[in-house]
Formats: sequence, C-alpha cells, structure tokens
Amino acid sequence: MQPIAWQISLVLMTLVAFGFAFVAINSGRRQEDYAPLQKSAYRLRTRLFWGLVLVFGPAMIYTLLDLPYDAARARTGSGAVQVVDATGYQWRWELSRDHVAAGQPVEFRVTSADVNHGFGIYDANLHLVAQTQAMPGYTNTLRHTFTEAGTYKVLCMEYCGVAHHNMMTEIRVVAQ
Ligand code: CUA
Repeated sequence: MQPIAWQISLVLMTLVAFGFAFVAINSGRRQEDYAPLQKSAYRLRTRLFWGLVLVFGPAMIYTLLDLPYDAARARTGSGAVQVVDATGYQWRWELSRDHVAAGQPVEFRVTSADVNHGFGIYDANLHLVAQTQAMPGYTNTLRHTFTEAGTYKVLCMEYCGVAHHNMMTEIRVVAQ
C-alpha cells in the first residue's frame, strides 16, 4: 500500500470511530428528543419526493413524445426508398446491391443465415453511421439516408467466430 493511502485510511477509520463513539454516548437520550427532528426530516422527504415527481414527470412525458421510431423515419429524407437486402454469413456479408444513391432513403433489411452478427456501416473515416443486429430467422429494418457520397464499409460488430474480424464488405454511395 502507498504511504499516503494508509494515512488516508487511518484518518477515515478515526472518523468512523468518532462516529461510533458519538452514537454510543448519545444513545442514552430518550426517543422523544428526536421527535421534532424526525418530523422535519419526514417533511423534507415528502417535499423532495414531490419535487422529483414535478421535475421528472413532465421530463419523462416530454421525452416519450419524441419516440425514436418515428424520429428515425422522419430523418430518412424524401424520395423513393432504396431497398438493400443484407445477409450475414460466417464470415461474409451478402448485399443485394453494391451501390445506392446519396440523399435518398435506404432501407436495409438485415438478417443472418447462421448465427448473430452485427451489421455496422462505417464511413471513410471509420465512423459508425448506422447499425443493427443481423439475427437468424428475423429481419431487422434499418433506415438510413447517406448525405455524402463515398465508399462505406460494412463490418461485423458482434463476435461470431474465428474469422469475425474478416467479415466486411463495401457499399458505394453515389451522388445523384
Ligand atoms: Cu459476424 Cu462477427
């Protein structure tokens, strides 16, 4: 242990010992002496409770108004939806098309042929732009509108076996 660490713990233990001593010395006092204190503590607690309800109640309702599902759709922009079927295999991705148009919503329909994979789309700087899970027997819908043209990478985001790190493909986003 570092010298400073045991000095601090010695101070803390001393404080705790004083605390015990204080309680032991004052334990003789009668119950009634605490009644006013208890009463004001309960009053404070009630106020605190209603204060929290008043602050967090409206905050909760407000945040629920902005449910992510519709917001995600609203962000996807206008124009015909470009559908891309994406299937994960150990250890590759299969996309129904290799390019999409920028500024027009894309709907990825993501599934897996074997185990769970993570479908993650990254831009040229390897920043994640959108992701969903690729699950066997289920199709997840991921909507995204690419605002910038370029070559994007699709990487697997969930460990799925020995060649997980090799599980990648590309999708080109072309300017209209
Ligand atoms: Cu597929 Cu990791």
